[in-house]
Amino acid sequence: MKKLRFLLQFVFISFLLFMSQCGTKQSSEVVSPDGKLKVIFSLNEAGKPFYAVQFKDKAILDTSALGFHFKEQHALEENFEIIGVEQMTYDEKWNPVWGEDKTFYNHGNEIKVLLREKMGDERLLNIYFRAYDDGVALRYEIPQQQRISQFEITDELTQFNFTGNPTAWWQPANFDTYELRYAESPLSEVSGANTPITLKAEDSLYLSVHEAALTDYSGMTLKQVKGNLFEADLAPFSPNGDVKVKQQVPMLTPWRVIKLAETAGGLITSHLIENLNEPSKIINTSWIKPGKYIGIWWEMHLKKGTWENKNASDFESLPFGGKPESGQSGIDKSHSANTANAKKYIDFATKHGINGLLIEGWNFGWERGWKGFNFTKAYPDFDIAEVVRYGKEHNVFLIGHHETGGEVGNYEKQLEEAFAFYNQLGIPAVKTGYVSNEGPVDINGEKFHHHGQRMVQHYRKVVETAARYQIMVVAHEPIKPTGIRRTWPNLLAAEGTRGQEYNAWDQEGGNKPWHTTVLPFTRMLAGPVDFTPGIFNIKFDEYSKENRVNTTLAKQLALYVVLYTPMQMAADLPEHYEGNEAFKFIEDVPVNWDETKVLNGEIGNYVTIARRHGSDWYIGAITDENARSVDIGLDFLREGATYEATIYADSPDTDLEHNPAAFDIRKQEVKKGSTLTLKMTQSGGQAISLKMK
Ligand code: NOJ
Ligand code: CA
Repeated sequence: MKKLRFLLQFVFISFLLFMSQCGTKQSSEVVSPDGKLKVIFSLNEAGKPFYAVQFKDKAILDTSALGFHFKEQHALEENFEIIGVEQMTYDEKWNPVWGEDKTFYNHGNEIKVLLREKMGDERLLNIYFRAYDDGVALRYEIPQQQRISQFEITDELTQFNFTGNPTAWWQPANFDTYELRYAESPLSEVSGANTPITLKAEDSLYLSVHEAALTDYSGMTLKQVKGNLFEADLAPFSPNGDVKVKQQVPMLTPWRVIKLAETAGGLITSHLIENLNEPSKIINTSWIKPGKYIGIWWEMHLKKGTWENKNASDFESLPFGGKPESGQSGIDKSHSANTANAKKYIDFATKHGINGLLIEGWNFGWERGWKGFNFTKAYPDFDIAEVVRYGKEHNVFLIGHHETGGEVGNYEKQLEEAFAFYNQLGIPAVKTGYVSNEGPVDINGEKFHHHGQRMVQHYRKVVETAARYQIMVVAHEPIKPTGIRRTWPNLLAAEGTRGQEYNAWDQEGGNKPWHTTVLPFTRMLAGPVDFTPGIFNIKFDEYSKENRVNTTLAKQLALYVVLYTPMQMAADLPEHYEGNEAFKFIEDVPVNWDETKVLNGEIGNYVTIARRHGSDWYIGAITDENARSVDIGLDFLREGATYEATIYADSPDTDLEHNPAAFDIRKQEVKKGSTLTLKMTQSGGQAISLKMK
């Protein structure tokens, strides 16, 4: 990937700094390429650093503080002078290995403000500010220097001082999970939030606050100081301590990012988060292949089968993955991950052009209450080598599964072996999991938050180890995506949301109809989501009368376009798909795109997204609990071409309560300039393929 970094200038203080009349105030600013967004950095009379953000000369963020508090060292928060400002422009195009668009455009301006304490230790602190057309970002650097080497951050002081009275879509701050419901409220009613948090200002400007390049630091949440003034609140290093981050010089923090767009959809098409990450560290990426998968998965969530094999314990000490000897059974009829069942799924996948099969519950540990997982020993009724072989014969690869049960020390001890095991067998992908009902995970007897620095290091180590073994990763209970996919494109997707699984067993009625109309504007701004759409047996009364999916079937199809991931699941059971014509859409829909357009949308109400693959387009539209009809203009189609539209829609009979699985399939010819009226029932949707004739 060619990185075009140009226009590196050292501009002398006298030239760039705007000294106030009394000569004590210092400031500098950086403006986006289109001239609309501006970040202004300033020091007040006490040498305290602040920044503010303007859009078209209007304040978006008022004066907001910067700096750090440390344990047993003086804070870095005042008494500074600017000793230099370096300017840089980024103007590069790069092609992701997979993505929502073929080309990502990274075009922004940067200043690096070099600060030094005027008295005392004269420590150095650098702050980078970037201004793009689609947002702004800042990050700190504590460079190599004499008077500070190792340090423990007790507080990052970065503030976000929002103006006006924005509406927020947010979930409560939590250091261990993002599997929470979203709320919509005035920002001033948010006491603390996970990121991304999304705001709509009174003048219809949309903002999203998140972070990028979270590499060796604790995850950031936002905490209310008062009103619309928020500050960074990092996950603690240890749950009971006051330290947030343990670091040494030179240290670069993640970017604090504020995306900005004049339409809600503009937040979705922005690639700012990815642009703020380093280029790929994987040189040969030919083994990284987007795809679709089914799984021995939903059947356990529905309790049709189990993860654990109750009769297996005697077999773990046996060689060869615990294969049974004659006379021993090792069979548990309810255990789902058995060889015969896996072959049944492979038969279905190959028949329908699905590339992958996830198999959960294949290894020892589940029978111990999801503890002490053994990542290289298969249950006796699961012949892993034979399943891989059968899959290869049928062009279906396996997605392995590493559930840790929150015992991360146990996983780290086996990490190398676990990946070598999959690599030797020819398993090219793994889903990881960090279920820990107690909250924090356990690492050799010590507790750590899922989103703290120690776990950020762990999640990265897993991705890097996987890359060495040419294995793709889909992470559940992850650290939120922060654009690392650019640097490590084998990290395909993460959960980090209240996914489909909640619909199987949630005691509060599953995900509400509006949930998926919020996700594209919140969680999805962080990166690909393993939401696992595609449930056709919407009410599954035969498994549970209390639970169901709160959408129509057509809306499930639309999610394949709306919720982007390069490794997309068809989550339902083969028998619920077999014979259903709607499955054709799942067979057809690509997972890797050349172009993405958001045709309309309002957060928490509805959204329509169109994505192009070659000369074909796919459209997904979804609505919340309200039935609605939206017109979409097909202005983006190729001039002069005719397309066959196949429209999967709620039918006149579809009814969320009583008949959610009813749908119609209709075909019609369309051209550039045609309009389609998309009628959606309550929590309904439409999925459309437009194939060029
Ligand atoms: C939670 C994950 O989100 C889910 O997909 C998985 O099936 C279970 N953990 C078991 O690992
Ligand atoms: Ca989960």
